[in-house]
This record gives sequence, structure tokens and C-alpha cells, in this order.
Amino acid sequence: MRLILVGPPGAGKGTQAVQLAAHYGIPHISTGDIFRHNMKNETELGKLAKSYADAGNLVPDSVTNEMVRDRLTHDDVKNGFLLDGFPRNVAQAEYLREVLADKQTPLDAALEFSLEEAEIIARLSGRRTCRSCSASFHILFEKPAVDGVCDKCQGELYQRTDDSEEVIKNRLAVYAEQTLPIIDFYRSEGLLITIPALGEVSDIFDRAITALSATVS
Ligand code: AP5
Ligand code: MG
Repeated sequence: MRLILVGPPGAGKGTQAVQLAAHYGIPHISTGDIFRHNMKNETELGKLAKSYADAGNLVPDSVTNEMVRDRLTHDDVKNGFLLDGFPRNVAQAEYLREVLADKQTPLDAALEFSLEEAEIIARLSGRRTCRSCSASFHILFEKPAVDGVCDKCQGELYQRTDDSEEVIKNRLAVYAEQTLPIIDFYRSEGLLITIPALGEVSDIFDRAITALSATVS
């Protein structure tokens, strides 16, 4: 299964990606997580990414495309992959199509999560993220067993810098201007599957695998 997830910030891409990747036995590749890992370790890539990510803007394509191309050369993608947060504009979508065409491994589907803005804001403003394994929790909707501690790896939970009200507004604007056009791109490629992202995490997962099994052989 070669799959990309599309949807506004806070739609639940990361939450669903972990379960979908486990279900299909494929790696979960989140460009946001790769950037945050580099930011935490203060690498050159991390310092560059921070100046864009903290403000809710996209990291330049020249950097992001190369990073993804390199990741797709690793051995673990031979049975497929799940890309979460890439592509995020039409130029990235065209780039990915070329990289995969060269390897003769085209995408199977682009899974879109659709969600109203009020719910997005509620999800992002209460999100807590694990510093160690990047798992997402929510102070009301997905509470960890112990406040501030990751259920999965016991890592420390923190609030992402870009989950402040001002930056959320900019991320939504960037999504509308730059990312939404890829929905039409994937529709015209015959790859788009859209599912509603409101409801319980387990129900959304069931919707996703039902929709995928109906369209991907
Ligand atoms: P990235 O990390 O990809 O951020 P994003 O797209 O804004 O998405 P989020 O991670 O915020 O949301 P999500 O959909 O994963 O939601 P989650 O599952 O956590 O990118 C960050 C930055 O990196 C970008 O701004 C950019 O600077 C840079 N970047 C990344 N990719 C790039 C690219 N391709 N090009 C250029 N720059 C790039 O869930 C959200 C919350 O809701 C959580 O608290 C969760 O517990 C809760 N929740 C989840 N599901 C449910 C549910 N069903 N009901 C109730 N609550 C729920
Ligand atoms: Mg995410």
C-alpha cells in the first residue's frame, strides 16, 4: 500500500497514520515529525525548518522534496509507505509523482480527512505531543493515563509552538491557499478518497480501511 494522507492541520492525520501504518505493515513517514525531530536536535535542517514551522509556514520545496526523496530510498518502503503531511502543494505532488514514476511504484490512494474549522481549532488548542515518539494526545478528547506523560513510551508531553491561536490561524490560511489545490490534483488522477474526520478515532479508522479496501486492490 502506497498512501498519502491529506487534510487540514488537526484533522487527525497523525493519529490515524499510526494505526493505518500498523494495519498495513508499512512505515509512517511524517514530514512534520522529521522536521520536529531535527528541531529538537538542533541540526542545520532543524534550525532552518524552525523558522518556518514555528510561524505555520511551509518549509521551502527544495528542502522538503529532497528530504522525502531520500527517505523513500530506505529499505523499509519496499512494501509501501504512508506519507503524512507530504505533499502539501501542487509542486510537491508533481515531484512525488515523478519520483514514484521513476521507481515504477505509483501511489495507490490519497486519503483526505475532512473536518469543520471549529473542530480543528478545538483539537489543536488542546493537543499535547510526545517529545520522544511524537504521539498525539488531547487534554479533553484523548487524555493520557497520567497528565503530561505519554501512554506509549512514557515520554514528556508538550504543547507544540505552532499550536498557539495566532499560528493555528496562519496554518489554516496556508492550508486553504497552498494545500487545498492538491485535492483537485488527486481527484483528476483518480486517486482521491474523502472520508469525514468527525467522530471517534476508532470509527474514523474503520471508515478509512473500508474506503481503502473498496478502491485499492
Ligand atoms: P505537520 O506536523 O504535518 O502539521 P499539520 O499538517 O498542521 O498537522 P498536525 O500534525 O497539526 O495535525 P494532524 O492532522 O496530524 O492531527 P493529530 O492527529 O495530531 O507540519 C508542521 C509544520 O512542518 C508545517 O507547518 C510546516 O512548517 C512543516 N511541514 C511539514 N510538512 C511539510 C511539507 N510537506 N512542506 C513544507 N513544510 C512542511 O490530531 C490533532 C489533535 O486532535 C490531537 O490532540 C488528537 O489527540 C486529537 N484527535 C485526533 N483525532 C480525534 C478525534 N477523532 N476526535 C477528537 N480528537 C481527536
Ligand atoms: Mg500530524
